[in-house]
Amino acid sequence: MTQHLAAPATATTSGHRAEPAPWWRDAVIYQVYPRSFADGNGDGMGDLAGIRSRLPYLKELGVDAVWLSPFYASPQADAGYDVADYRAIDPMFGTLHDADALIRSAHALDLRIIVDLVPNHCSDQHDWFRQALREGPGSRLRERFHFRPGKGADGELPPNDWESIFGGPAWTRTANPDGTPGEWYLHLFAPEQPDFNWEHPAVQDEFRSILRFWLDLGADGFRVDVAHGLVKAPGLPDIGSGDQLKLLGNDVMPFFDQDGVHEIYRSWRRILDEYEGERVLVAEAWTPTVERTALYVRPDEMHQAFNFQYLTTNWDEKELREVIDGSLAAMRPVGAPTTWVLSNHDVTRHATRFGNPPGLGTQLREQGDRELGLRRARAATLLMLALPGSAYVYQGEELGLPDVTDLPDEVRQDPSFFRAEGQDGFRDGCRVPIPWTREGSSYGFGSGGSWLPQPAEWAELSVEAQTGVAGSTLELYRAALAARREHPGLGAGEAVTWLDAPDGVLALSREGFVCTTNTTGAPVRLPAPGALLLASAPVAVNDGFAVLPADATAWWTV
Ligand code: BGC
Repeated sequence: MTQHLAAPATATTSGHRAEPAPWWRDAVIYQVYPRSFADGNGDGMGDLAGIRSRLPYLKELGVDAVWLSPFYASPQADAGYDVADYRAIDPMFGTLHDADALIRSAHALDLRIIVDLVPNHCSDQHDWFRQALREGPGSRLRERFHFRPGKGADGELPPNDWESIFGGPAWTRTANPDGTPGEWYLHLFAPEQPDFNWEHPAVQDEFRSILRFWLDLGADGFRVDVAHGLVKAPGLPDIGSGDQLKLLGNDVMPFFDQDGVHEIYRSWRRILDEYEGERVLVAEAWTPTVERTALYVRPDEMHQAFNFQYLTTNWDEKELREVIDGSLAAMRPVGAPTTWVLSNHDVTRHATRFGNPPGLGTQLREQGDRELGLRRARAATLLMLALPGSAYVYQGEELGLPDVTDLPDEVRQDPSFFRAEGQDGFRDGCRVPIPWTREGSSYGFGSGGSWLPQPAEWAELSVEAQTGVAGSTLELYRAALAARREHPGLGAGEAVTWLDAPDGVLALSREGFVCTTNTTGAPVRLPAPGALLLASAPVAVNDGFAVLPADATAWWTV
């Protein structure tokens, strides 16, 4: 067990020692996608040793914690979200020793490590599922999953009409041990990802034990995958509407956001609370409303939930203001911090989303207007980092990386692309390994190429190319994160005050600080609210007036 990070108590003006707010309430958490961050052994695939070697970069960037997407033993049918062994590292990422060393090194730098927990489903190569298949219908070992006989005269039809999030039926028929067609099993995602039956005590016990395993190793918390999916409506009722699901959409479904999930998280919270060091649970919960999301972060459940309503908001003043207000209001009654996120490994990078027309969703195959996208992305980031609560940064967004929208189909690996027959599931575009240097194999990602091809123009977007360059996106992120540490008004608290501003401009005030965002495509002149602290594009200030360029955010101290 590694030494745990303890927050120092702060001295108040009266001389008393006040308990500091827990670290996660306003933390900036950086998502590392292990396949694509840094390759330590030159096999073209990122790994734990690579991540460890780049921790000083993350420290210098100024983040508080690192969330690692799955690195467990897995056949990689869904890039590691199909786990065969929750207590082992996939050899392509390293060993348990590497995981331990990574956590220790991060702690030595005062960085926290959040690991990804995948409880809704496992891999079809997980021992439990293989045993269940081997034992055949009627076996108690099948009760840990959702096995059902099919409908129709010979059981040739799926048990209900549920569709997989990745396309096609959510059921796959098995063969009996004697080779005859057998029962069906449920998989909300790929057929290689059978859903656990969370009514079963063995499943509940197993995950409590997995939590302890990683907590004992020093993990600071868990990002809980598909947290809204574990419990299914009793009887697995048909949906009936024939509606197709959107990838990871917010639809109301009998397999999502069922009230029963909350009891599971309460029991997990009790476990985390036994450990020192403010460990956290973060819900990946796609729910119909922010109010439903707030239920996951009640005081005895998780600590944070991703704010997907914010991620899916268009670059529009009114929509942004509405979602900011709505998010803050929804979290207030439960006392949880709001979170903000613009990109992750499942959606088109925001530098590309914002360069496309609004309303196209999160799976884009068009590059759109690259310059516009980057301009808005930089502005959106400064807006996000000015809001109260915790913010998530997805690897490479600090370089202003666009999505790679023109990957040849033959290199794609996202299972949803294949299940949707190439009409959806473009998640590989945000998973291309990131560039560290201008030259070299895979631009410094590793010495042996990269598992997805990187565009040649990424040389100029590399960490090396942007370091020390005034106005580069990397330096903007570094400056913003440094300012967030220096100015307590940024990130802290639970509310914003909106100020009067010209049409298309968001102006919000926090303690000692104002953030102005011009969402329009033209410069806007407005009274300078204070001293310019940082801006996503050059701001001219003259005679008490400022000209905020098109699609730009400026921070002011007042
Ligand atoms: C993860 C995805 C994954 C899915 C199934 C998600 O929400 O973020 O990358 O494909 O869960 O595990």
